[in-house]
Amino acid sequence: MCGIFAYLNYRVPRTRKEIFETLIKGLQRLEYRGYDSAGVAIDGNNNEDKERFIKLVKKRGKVKALEEELYKQDSLDSKADFETHFGIAHTRWATHGAPSAINSHPQRSDKKNEFVVIHNGIITNYKDLRKFLESKGYEFESETDTETIPKLIKYVYDNRESEDTSFSALVERVIQQLEGAFALVFKSIHYPGEAVATRRGSPLLIGVRSKYKLSTEQIPVLYRTCNIENVKNICNSRMKRLDSSTCLHAVGDKAVEFFFASDASAIIEHTNRVIFLEDDDIAAVTDGKLSIHRLERSASDDPSRAIQTLQMELQQIMKGNFSAFMQKEIFEQPESVVNTMRGRVNFASSTVLLGGLKDHLKEIRRCRRLIIIGCGTSFHAAVATRQVLEELTELPVMVELASDFLDRNTPVFRDDVCFFISQSGETADTLMALRYCKERRALTVGITNTVGSSISRETDCGVHINAGPEIGVASTKAYTSQFVSLVMFGLMMSEDRISLQKRRQEIISGLQSLPEMIKEVLSLDEKIHDLALELYKQRSLLVMGRGYNYATCLEGALKIKEITYMHSEGILAGELKHGPLALIDKQMPVIMVIMKDPCFTKCQNALQQITARQGRPIILCSKEDTESSKFAYKTIELPHTVDCLQGVLSVIPLQLLSFHLAVLRGYDVDFPRNLAKSVTVE
Ligand code: F6R
Repeated sequence: MCGIFAYLNYRVPRTRKEIFETLIKGLQRLEYRGYDSAGVAIDGNNNEDKERFIKLVKKRGKVKALEEELYKQDSLDSKADFETHFGIAHTRWATHGAPSAINSHPQRSDKKNEFVVIHNGIITNYKDLRKFLESKGYEFESETDTETIPKLIKYVYDNRESEDTSFSALVERVIQQLEGAFALVFKSIHYPGEAVATRRGSPLLIGVRSKYKLSTEQIPVLYRTCNIENVKNICNSRMKRLDSSTCLHAVGDKAVEFFFASDASAIIEHTNRVIFLEDDDIAAVTDGKLSIHRLERSASDDPSRAIQTLQMELQQIMKGNFSAFMQKEIFEQPESVVNTMRGRVNFASSTVLLGGLKDHLKEIRRCRRLIIIGCGTSFHAAVATRQVLEELTELPVMVELASDFLDRNTPVFRDDVCFFISQSGETADTLMALRYCKERRALTVGITNTVGSSISRETDCGVHINAGPEIGVASTKAYTSQFVSLVMFGLMMSEDRISLQKRRQEIISGLQSLPEMIKEVLSLDEKIHDLALELYKQRSLLVMGRGYNYATCLEGALKIKEITYMHSEGILAGELKHGPLALIDKQMPVIMVIMKDPCFTKCQNALQQITARQGRPIILCSKEDTESSKFAYKTIELPHTVDCLQGVLSVIPLQLLSFHLAVLRGYDVDFPRNLAKSVTVE
């Protein structure tokens, strides 16, 4: 987890205030990745002899607290003291060590801050490293796994064999000793104005901005010339000659700025030109020139890294008139589902084409089974579409929680097709499951919302759901877009099936009217707010349904618990009599999802069981359903669509309800306690 951001301005005059603002704004954009504490390392100097030092400011709590502290400690009027300033910043989601200033990043090598590091990920062998470093006399001050990294680089520096060892060579040596996942940015007083960044398993990209022409669009990846086995000599080994043609810079050594970040939302307001680093890439900026090198060929075997142009707009990631990102994202769903379908569903010819899958369709059609893997909300999207996928693909479909799938060492075969559903594309459990399936030679398919994410890059093929950036920690629009993407996949698979044509037509028409129907559901917001006013003091809330709407109950309950902190359970109505019925009485609020679909009659049975125990059900039902509303304490009436798409509509009132409940209970909707948007730890 955690968000990392760094900024280097080479020959671009910046005041201290501008540098602070850039760092703080970068962190604010990444705050959804973690917000237990935050910190920055900036350049300072001693006025008399102009000697540089690194100033560390760290604070428990949100970025706002850090911002106040930073401005308290530093004079904003002063000019930036250096032609090239390099600042690094971090917002933390605690994994090792409680949320506190001392455990926040940047972590440092020693009291003089010779080396400082920001880190996203987990170092799994940190205990061994710490023991080793302590045996060499290094004193640790935090409880973090990260602190081993600045200490280790200082150890490598202190024991270097040559005075001209480069900063990147030190980092290379360090990452050879690290196990686990990391994205790292290093700063050092020994290498003023230089930056080194690297990643393995955690995302990291570099933005570049200059008003001058850039030297290249493809940065060649350089390799060390030494024997890899001989790691002892690595600090002294030579990298293929670094000259202008192997670096990215502004032509004529002109002014250029570099931004390093965990994701594009922190960079996009500065530049849309970015480079996605691959695992084990080491990127270094020296004298305003960016070079990339590595020890071994990368998995993609790509000899260069392209500068890509992002299509994202800043306003896409701003809150607009809404009070929270989550609320904005709920209300974006009429457009986000259109974007998911755009250019893919042809309503005139009733065909669906997912460009990212078309070359693999034959292989998928021949497969033994489909396995759909995800976590949390993404898993629920798989549950929601399982039945329609079984129907349209005529294949066995397994849905799996990534962590459980791995715990069970689930047998996977080369003729399986494994789908990995992930909004962020970075969820560690899902990523591990992907690697597990790849090792077993199954075809892997990514369904993600983040271009350039690890899952989208490591899968054989995939679908980008195009929901737009999702900032609120509670996932909403990504769920409905994942849902629609999976249905589109089913439709594409069934194009040749004569017996399924009528059904396909019905579903495609349903997709066409979905955006208007979502708008109709959103117009119920006020009514749902009133319902929230009645419920917000409750301790518990049950959500019950079955068939196509079981996933709605799981997802609704997850939304309620994660942002309102109320206990909530999604219950399969068929299981009611096997236990949960004991919870029902006059006091227990129960929401029932009863739609006009093949489970309607069975849901009526559950409704009777509830009312017979004096339960007072709040029912989400179809507009014309007088049968259910007779027994309801309250109803929320929804437009009726084809059974397998009804879940896209029925989940929205629960998204809205959880939002209003959280606001009424006084909680920060976008930043639920203990959670983070992108869970890059197991
Ligand atoms: C809940 C939520 C989480 C995520 C889960 C997987 O609102 O957002 O349950 O769905 O952590 O995340 P992704 O989809 O990024 O893999």
